Amino acid sequence: MRKKFVAGNWKMFKTIPEGRELVKAIVKKTGKKTDVDIAICPSFAHLPMAVELTKNSPVMIGAQDVSVREEGAFTGEVSASMVKSLDVTHVILGHSERRHFWHERDWLISKKIRIALRHGLDVIYCVGENLVEREIGLTNEVVLSQIELGLRNIAGEALPRITIAYEPVWAIGTGKTATPKQAADVHKSIRSWIADFYGKDMGDTVRIIYGGSVKPENADKLMKLPDIDGALVGGACLEADSFMAIIAAAK
Ligand code: PGA
Repeated sequence: MRKKFVAGNWKMFKTIPEGRELVKAIVKKTGKKTDVDIAICPSFAHLPMAVELTKNSPVMIGAQDVSVREEGAFTGEVSASMVKSLDVTHVILGHSERRHFWHERDWLISKKIRIALRHGLDVIYCVGENLVEREIGLTNEVVLSQIELGLRNIAGEALPRITIAYEPVWAIGTGKTATPKQAADVHKSIRSWIADFYGKDMGDTVRIIYGGSVKPENADKLMKLPDIDGALVGGACLEADSFMAIIAAAK
């Protein structure tokens, strides 16, 4: 049985004081034990505070990116080793906003995945087709090629440390969610690709979560599906009650 995983991607929202209140509220509502893995992924600026406030809580903290370089004269970059040294556990890589606005390509994301794993960070690897790709029937080709290129040179042993987030680009921040059937179909083909490439055990082990306008109102239907192992939540994670309602739906 794969444990469900719900991660909140804060993107570039919340001041530090606002972030502190939100982390505190999530920690309080989560309590000491949870049946669902929970991660909060705020901006780099929030990370030290968020790690500190979650010290005695099962809530984990993730970053939203790391540099592709180990260290050096790269103004503005934040390295995987810096993030890891804060006791951050996860990093989101390959998010469609980074692919789109910063032109991150699969080869770059694949390098970032390897650097993150090497430094002991678990990875939430985002893949997903845009609207045109869906409309012309290329969803599977696009998603599976992102999987293949992103996971290139990743050995099977490392795979349990990677969570795949299927996020159709047309569903992110738009209020449009994939129907449970659309999501389930793509999750199924990702899982069978993993099973073909890494073996059936790995196909059964790897967690594939869904992202794209997940809200308390639709979480239940999505989380019920056997191939959907949780959610990557954007907008609805910026408020403790709606984030907790999605976590409750995952239980
Ligand atoms: P959304 O964002 O829930 O606001 O659609 C999801 C994401 O970008 O990870």
